[in-house]
Amino acid sequence: MDYNDNLPFWECMSNSKELFSRAKKVIPSGINSPVRYYTPYPFFVTRAQGSSLWDADGNRYLDFCNGYGALLLGHRRKEIVSSVASQLKKGTLYCAPTELEVELSELVSKNFPSMKKIRLVNTGSEATMTAIRLARGHTKKKKIIKFEGCYHGAHDYVLVKAGSGAAHNGISVSDGGLDEVSKNTLVVQYNNSEELASVMEKERDVAAVIVEPVLANMGLVLPEKNFLRNLRKLTLENDSLLIFDEVVTGFRMSLGGAQECYSIKPDITALGKALGNGFAIAAVGGKRDVMDMLSPEGKVYQASTYAGNPVSVSAAVASVKTMNKNKNKLYPSLEKACRSLASSLGDLASDMGIPHQINHASSMFQMFFTDKRVVDYTTAKAADAAKFKKLFNGLLKNGIFVAPSQFETVFLSFAHTDEDLKKAIDAYEKALKTVKR
Ligand SMILES: Cc1ncc(COP(=O)(O)O)c(C=O)c1O
Repeated sequence: MDYNDNLPFWECMSNSKELFSRAKKVIPSGINSPVRYYTPYPFFVTRAQGSSLWDADGNRYLDFCNGYGALLLGHRRKEIVSSVASQLKKGTLYCAPTELEVELSELVSKNFPSMKKIRLVNTGSEATMTAIRLARGHTKKKKIIKFEGCYHGAHDYVLVKAGSGAAHNGISVSDGGLDEVSKNTLVVQYNNSEELASVMEKERDVAAVIVEPVLANMGLVLPEKNFLRNLRKLTLENDSLLIFDEVVTGFRMSLGGAQECYSIKPDITALGKALGNGFAIAAVGGKRDVMDMLSPEGKVYQASTYAGNPVSVSAAVASVKTMNKNKNKLYPSLEKACRSLASSLGDLASDMGIPHQINHASSMFQMFFTDKRVVDYTTAKAADAAKFKKLFNGLLKNGIFVAPSQFETVFLSFAHTDEDLKKAIDAYEKALKTVKR
């Protein structure tokens, strides 16, 4: 047991403890998404601003979870709050088209030139589900290939050997998921284009290959040289579509996402998270001929009551404009801060003699307790998760909130100050001492 209810740290969270016991009576496991669960109980949030969260006991945490990557601009960014406030005066749901939706789609297409046409949806899961259905409709093929440890949402097409909470909780295929569906989802190791080539050579019925171009749901795992290029080549050669799931990387790695950083043009892209910077909105887009297959003019069905709702869309328009306006500072400064943070944390762990790896890219990083390079699901799983739990507890105790799992990523936001980063290094130093013990 690293910490238990009797230790002073958790006593500082007595209101959260009480709320958790109330929650458990009416909410399965007491939380509304599995990754929010950790022992002995999670802190309950009352408010957030900039880089900070406050809990029900008045404790303040520097937020390095950042809505699992959504909050690139930090909490309550003023341009977004004021855009939403003015939209609230005009109504929250019309279920009829608005100019705002056109404006947002134009903005997204400008930043992501591969997304010629766009449908707005509410969540990343809806975006990947629609992307896969489109690929099947377009190619008239049945199977999809995904990579072990990539997480594309909680629907049956992709919940096979997924990362994030599924990896954390050891779930390969969810109970209640249909074998008839998951057998059409073939799984290949991330960063293994040879394996992909051999699967595609044998299997002619592949509608699409779906990938997180930078894998942010097994901790952080970077694509090896030519991996993404090989995916593009193999999908073209085999008349399959390439789907980039940029729900995490879109707008976070650069204005044009990972596809801009690695100069690869996928056929379909899924966006979410940073698109709305804290509001529920996502998007699926791609080539005209593919996107034109969507109903009602096409025969691939997709629909949602809240899709394109003006509140989320006004937040996304303000987000995308703010990211564009600040691009010269936003991306270089976050990348520099992240690189320097990763390097300081690496030095701390090395000085303490703790075997570790740190993977980082743009404003994302993760520390793994292993002496082997982390390049895929197997090498990420080989890291010592018990040590990570100690790290998590130590960080929380010292006012730093990261996602409570080795199989998630640490995210910086534009709201983090130099002072915040110094506090993070200090907290990591204290937490790493508990890992060493
Ligand atoms: C890469 C990726 N794709 C899709 C999703 C699903 O998005 P949502 O949780 O909005 O449904 C996530 C969520 O974490 C994700 O990280």
